Parts: sequence; C-alpha cells; structure tokens
Amino acid sequence: MNPPLFLMLCECICTLISSFLSCLSCFSFCENGNGRVHLFVSQACLKQLSTVTKVQFQNIQVIENPTPDSNIIKQVEAQIPTLHYPKPETFSRGECTQNPVTFFAILSMQRSGSGWFETLLNSHINISSNGEIFFPMDRRKNISTIILTLERVYNLDWFNSASKNECSAAVGFKWMLNQGLMEHHKEIVEYFNHRGVAVVFLFRRHLLRRMVSLLANSYDRYAKLLNGTHKSHVHSQEEAAALSRYKPIINSTSLISDLKEVEMDAVKTIKYFNSTRHMVLYYEDLITNNTKLEDVQEFLGLPKMELTSRQVKIHKGPLSDFVKNWDDVVKTLNGTEYVSFLEADY
Ligand SMILES: *[C@@H]1O[C@H](CO)[C@@H](O)[C@H](O)[C@H]1NC(C)=O
Ligand SMILES: *[C@@H]1O[C@H](CO)[C@@H](O)[C@H](O)[C@H]1NC(C)=O
Ligand SMILES: *[C@@H]1O[C@H](CO)[C@@H](O)[C@H](O)[C@H]1NC(C)=O
Ligand SMILES: *[C@@H]1O[C@H](CO)[C@@H](O)[C@H](O)[C@H]1NC(C)=O
Ligand SMILES: *[C@@H]1O[C@H](CO)[C@@H](O)[C@H](O)[C@H]1NC(C)=O
Ligand SMILES: *[C@@H]1O[C@H](CO)[C@@H](O)[C@H](O)[C@H]1NC(C)=O
Ligand SMILES: *[C@@H]1O[C@H](CO)[C@@H](O)[C@H](O)[C@H]1NC(C)=O
Repeated sequence: MNPPLFLMLCECICTLISSFLSCLSCFSFCENGNGRVHLFVSQACLKQLSTVTKVQFQNIQVIENPTPDSNIIKQVEAQIPTLHYPKPETFSRGECTQNPVTFFAILSMQRSGSGWFETLLNSHINISSNGEIFFPMDRRKNISTIILTLERVYNLDWFNSASKNECSAAVGFKWMLNQGLMEHHKEIVEYFNHRGVAVVFLFRRHLLRRMVSLLANSYDRYAKLLNGTHKSHVHSQEEAAALSRYKPIINSTSLISDLKEVEMDAVKTIKYFNSTRHMVLYYEDLITNNTKLEDVQEFLGLPKMELTSRQVKIHKGPLSDFVKNWDDVVKTLNGTEYVSFLEADY
C-alpha cells in the first residue's frame, strides 16, 4: 500500500475508534511495519471499557458494515493483526480479561542463542515464552497434532515455569527448524496468518561458532562434564570454563558444505514464512545492541521493560582456543566466502 493512502486510512480508523469509546488516548500509535498496520491500544483505555463498548470495539475490528469504500476497508481489515482475547479452559484471566494478547513464535536453530533470548523475554512481566514445545516427537507427528499443540499454547492453556497466566500480553514458544517446521511449512504459514501469529526469526551469523557450540554440547550430552549432569546452558563462569575445556574436532572435509547447508536452511525458512508478520534477529546483534530488545518488545506490542538473563556464555574468546584441529579449519576456510569466521570474535 502506498504511504499517503496508508496514513489516511490509519487516521480514519483511529478517529473512529476513539469516538466510539470517547477515549482520545485510545491509540498510541499506528505504524507501518512490514507494510502492515500496527494498532496499539493503551491499557489505560481498555480498562475503562464497559462490556458494551468492548463489543462495539470488537465490531470495529471486524468492520462488518463498511460505509466509505468497502474495498479500502477490506484492505485495512486484512492488514490489522487481530487483537486476541483468549479464554483459557484451565483458569480465568481475572483482572486481565480485557487485555489483548499477542501470539508469537521464535523460529530458530539449536545453539543460536534462543535459550538465552527466551530467558530475556521471560524476564518481562507480561511475556510467556514456553520453550521448545515441539521437542517431543509425538507433538509433531502430523499437522493435526501440531495445530492441537499450538491451540493449547495460544489459548494460554499450556503450563510451565514461564506461564504468567492471567496477565500475559504476549504468548509464544521457540520452534527449531528441524522440528517439523520446515516439513509442514505450508500449513503452518496458513495457520500463523489465520491466527495472527507474529514470527521472530533468530539466527546466528557466525555459523562456525554455532558449529563448535553444537559439537561441544552433543559431546557433553554423553560425557556430562559438570559432575555427571548434562547442561546445555550454564549460569556461572566456573561451569562455562569447565564446559569449554573440551575441544571438538571439526570435520574439515565436510566443513564448507555443512556451513552452506545451515545457511540455506535459514534462507529457505525466511522465504517460506515471508508472508507472515515477522522480524529477523541475529544473535550477534542482540549481544552488542540493546536497541534490538526494545524493537522486539515494540514488535510484540508490549510496554517496554529492561530485560535480564542469568545465563553465561560458554565459549568466550578466540575460536582458535576451542577447536582441536584449528589449523585444518584455517586451511579449509582460507580464500572462501567464510574466511571472516576465522577472525570475527564475539
Ligand atoms: C495424526 O496423529 C494422531 C496421533 O497419532 C492420529 O490420531 C491422527 O489420526 C493423525 N492425523 C492424521 C491426519 O494423520
Ligand atoms: C502486565 O502484567 C501486570 C502484572 O500482572 C498487569 O498489571 C498489566 O496489566 C499487564 N500488562 C499488560 C499490557 O497486559
Ligand atoms: C563438582 O562437585 C564438587 C564437589 O561436589 C564441587 O567442588 C565442584 O565445584 C563441582 N564442579 C562443577 C564444575 O560444578
Ligand atoms: C567427514 O566428512 C566426510 C564427508 O562428508 C565423511 O565422509 C567422513 O566420514 C567424515 N569424517 C568423520 C570423522 O566424521
Ligand atoms: C518477501 O516478499 C516481498 C514481497 O511480497 C519481497 O519484496 C521480498 O523480497 C520477499 N523476501 C524474501 C526474503 O523472499
Ligand atoms: C542498533 O539497532 C538499531 C535498530 O534496531 C539500529 O538503528 C542501530 O543503528 C543499531 N546500532 C548499532 C551500533 O548497530
Ligand atoms: C591463505 O592463503 C594464502 C594464499 O592463497 C596464503 O598466502 C596465506 O598464508 C593463507 N593464510 C593462512 C592463515 O593460512
């Protein structure tokens, strides 16, 4: 949609809503992100609503009797992400029944910082990010079991330590590309667009570091370096040091094609999910740029908060310290498109 037309429609809809609700501060902004209208209704306003005005408000969302130009209204309607008011079967949302909830999914790969990212999100009082819910095979057996699982999450009927229950304003989970996501991408995109699920891609640029993390983690799964327990994520410098003492050997024969394959998976996924409302994040940017976390909160329509995590990075410092056959790796990557992985240090 071209910008002037977009602004006009946006203004028109916001005016309509505020006049119905006699609440001028009803909307905070209306922005054009990814060409989509993002309507942010302030909490103060929603709290003032009686049941009657709330019904009217929901009618406006649906826009059933368009007066000006039905064509234009249809366009806007298609672009407004639905505001969700889930009605969980297992508990009552209490004082927060009238707060809208954003649905999201973090699409990522193993060892790309998604665990750390989730602990950051869950430090927000209104975010419930429920972890790797598709880890167990039986939940991703076929598209029906996938959708049943998704429905439970988005209806707030999924319970774990991340659940904020009644006052969640954003609910989601992380989904690894190899957990049925790429296999069933067509139906999942359809579901996401139908249900208004926002997608956060989280990828890692430094694929060689990711590979080291992956090898070390799968080694620890068997060796259990920390006094007999396997840990994927650690919370102290001592634990990090203990885990990083193990130096994996990288298969230099398959190195280039392995890196390429991972790279292509990310590209393919972004392409498959292009029609969803989405944002792309890189682990490296999250580490170095605090603004990124604010972008995420804005994308999810949340009040901004300082987010914190207790997790400690396992492999810190130059990569050459953590790979047994570093010389082979240097020889293999020298002169290729991946040569920068040898130097970059984060
Ligand atoms: C999906 O798997 C479930 C559980 O095994 C089964 O009951 C159901 O019939 C399957 N659905 C389809 C469409 O294959
Ligand atoms: C966030 O949670 C707090 C505390 O539970 C609640 O008072 C507030 O209304 C929630 N905010 C949103 C936007 O739902
Ligand atoms: C392992 O256990 C011993 C004593 O039980 C403790 O002193 C040590 O710090 C532990 N090591 C790690 C890496 O947790
Ligand atoms: C390294 O990769 C090559 C090519 O994929 C494979 O043939 C070989 O078995 C691998 N070596 C090890 C030690 O896994
Ligand atoms: C996504 O689609 C838009 C148009 O719908 C296109 O301009 C853009 O290049 C696509 N992006 C990718 C990564 O395919
Ligand atoms: C940090 O991210 C913001 C947007 O997310 C961007 O505008 C800014 O340029 C970034 N800063 C640096 C130093 O890269
Ligand atoms: C990379 O290759 C060039 C020649 O192609 C060589 O001069 C250079 O020493 C190599 N670098 C390393 C770090 O092996």
